[in-house]
Amino acid sequence: MKSIAEIRRDFPILERKIGGNPLVYFDNGATSQKPQQVIDSIVHFYTTYNANIHRGVHTLSQGATNAYEEARRKLQKHINAAKSYEVIFTSGTTEGINLVATCLTPFVKKNDEILVLTTEHHSNIVPWQFLCERTGAILRPIPIDEKGMIILEDFKSILSERTKVVSCQHVSNALGNVHPVKEIITLAHSVGAVTLIDGAQSCPHFTIDVQDLDADFYVASGHKMYAPTGIGFLYGKEVWLEKLPPYKGGGDMIKTVCFDKTTYADLPYKLEAGTPNICGGIAYGVAIDYMHSLGMTNIADHEHALLRYAHKQIHNIGGITIYGTNDLDHKAGVISFNINGAHPYDIGTLLDQMGIAVRTGHHCAQPVMDFYHIPGTVRASFAVYNTLEEVDRLIEGIRKAIKMLL
Ligand code: ALA
Repeated sequence: MKSIAEIRRDFPILERKIGGNPLVYFDNGATSQKPQQVIDSIVHFYTTYNANIHRGVHTLSQGATNAYEEARRKLQKHINAAKSYEVIFTSGTTEGINLVATCLTPFVKKNDEILVLTTEHHSNIVPWQFLCERTGAILRPIPIDEKGMIILEDFKSILSERTKVVSCQHVSNALGNVHPVKEIITLAHSVGAVTLIDGAQSCPHFTIDVQDLDADFYVASGHKMYAPTGIGFLYGKEVWLEKLPPYKGGGDMIKTVCFDKTTYADLPYKLEAGTPNICGGIAYGVAIDYMHSLGMTNIADHEHALLRYAHKQIHNIGGITIYGTNDLDHKAGVISFNINGAHPYDIGTLLDQMGIAVRTGHHCAQPVMDFYHIPGTVRASFAVYNTLEEVDRLIEGIRKAIKMLL
């Protein structure tokens, strides 16, 4: 792998100073920064071959189509999908979950049950509530223990023939916990339920193999994995994508249209109406290439080293509550904590004045905060370009914040 110093040179924004201090960017769970390679691909697209895709015989359109479809194949390989048409481009994780929750409507009826984890992001709760409102189905949270991990025995006991959908995050955005999704999927399948895994916080950090997991659906966002905002993917098993009705109507998703009857395009286009985020999709492919040029295992190992160091250093300060599991083998590069007696917003504001960007608040996961009876947490989340020295800056910042606030 390139050295971290070389990797950091790929990310021009890391040169910035905030309030006179070098930026420490620890808000990667919200969005990652973009390497020059991705930024260049955006400029290259708009300066040399911008055109709509699947719609023109002209050279520019063909060039854009080829690059976009190449990006789909890169994603296919990246998650080990069996077919490239099992990868649907979306605007992000949220759209992927909304698509599935909407298109599953004909398969769900009154009193069926949809199970999600108590620690889900709102985007893996609200679309299912909409589905329940449409169908009369019931949304049930799967219990978690005090460390925010799924309680598998409780999960088994609420699974039944009424369970139609199990939709579960792979990694908690609020806590960093990595859930045993392979086991969850196997158990869900044992009662005939369809499974969706929210990979927004897993795909940036470690290798995903959708066939090994046996996930029916898997969704993620590009912008948390070094690609631009507004692009993501939905993986679906061919058998499920064939069964789903279209999500949106419009251009590109049809075979024939007349006023009596419209027939739909083959996969993946049936689920991709309208002009997509072409440049974003191409740049997503470049971001995937970038991650592979570093090596997914190297990325995971580096972020884990940061996590272990930060966890120990934060714990050693004293007077701090760290949320989520202490079993760091089952935690991605996220540390959520509070200084006892201080409000997370105050801590975040002071850290920002020192040039350290963290996320504060409920992290779009209010049920997690309700579970712990807190208004929110301070969350530091790591990416491949972060360093141990930056963790030291965070520790120094927390110590200063404690002196100022308590
Ligand atoms: N879901 C993103 C986060 O956790 C925005 O910050």
